Amino acid sequence: MNAASPLTPHPSPVITIDGPSASGKGTVAERVAAALGLHFLDSGALYRLTALSAMQHRVALTDEASVAALASALPAEFREGAVWLAGQDVTEAIRAEAVGEGASKVAALPAVREALLARQRAYCQPPGLVADGRDMGTVVFPDAVAKVFLTASAGARAQRRYKQLIDKGISANLPALVVDMEARDARDTQRSVAPLKPAPDALLLDTTEMDIESSVQAVLDHYHNRIAAN
Ligand code: DC
Repeated sequence: MNAASPLTPHPSPVITIDGPSASGKGTVAERVAAALGLHFLDSGALYRLTALSAMQHRVALTDEASVAALASALPAEFREGAVWLAGQDVTEAIRAEAVGEGASKVAALPAVREALLARQRAYCQPPGLVADGRDMGTVVFPDAVAKVFLTASAGARAQRRYKQLIDKGISANLPALVVDMEARDARDTQRSVAPLKPAPDALLLDTTEMDIESSVQAVLDHYHNRIAAN
């Protein structure tokens, strides 16, 4: 990982964007990656794929050893703008609320996180990477060149998730989404391994009142400032 000498620019800079669910970090990370021509890692998708795989194999989400075994040999691929699991297009399936809920549960198991660590780091390839998740800046890429912790109020995030679901023709209930979101935030921030928290050197970006374009621009500005300072 980022082990270049201070005198040479790193050939594969990493930008990390962490934050709670529905904070918009995935959309922002993808656009920042496109703007800079870098690779993109949606680490949450790996936890969602692990949960889906466990559900398909009828493995209990609390069975740490068995779920970790599935995670370490996950037959997953990201290609043609789609997500594949064992040759099946699961792009939509992994976005289901039940799978997100399952992902949050398996993500609390230390052996599962360990099983996915090397896989996530392997995405750091030239010309560089934008990675989004919960622990990108704290655990997976601690020496990333630029780190952002992107958040928004629970109300704003529930509204965004509600709009996404309605736009897809899926019925949704806003108060129930707020309750689910707060439960997931609590699980993600209170777990003992790699809890959701800002890296000490992360830029804190509250996007409650910001649109996607200005959030993307704020991350790009931070990255350019960090590059200029190094
Ligand atoms: O970002 P997301 O909603 O797709 O993530 C799904 C779950 O996976 C989330 O509830 C917490 C977990 N996760 C994690 O623990 N660490 C990451 N780096 C990414 C996601």
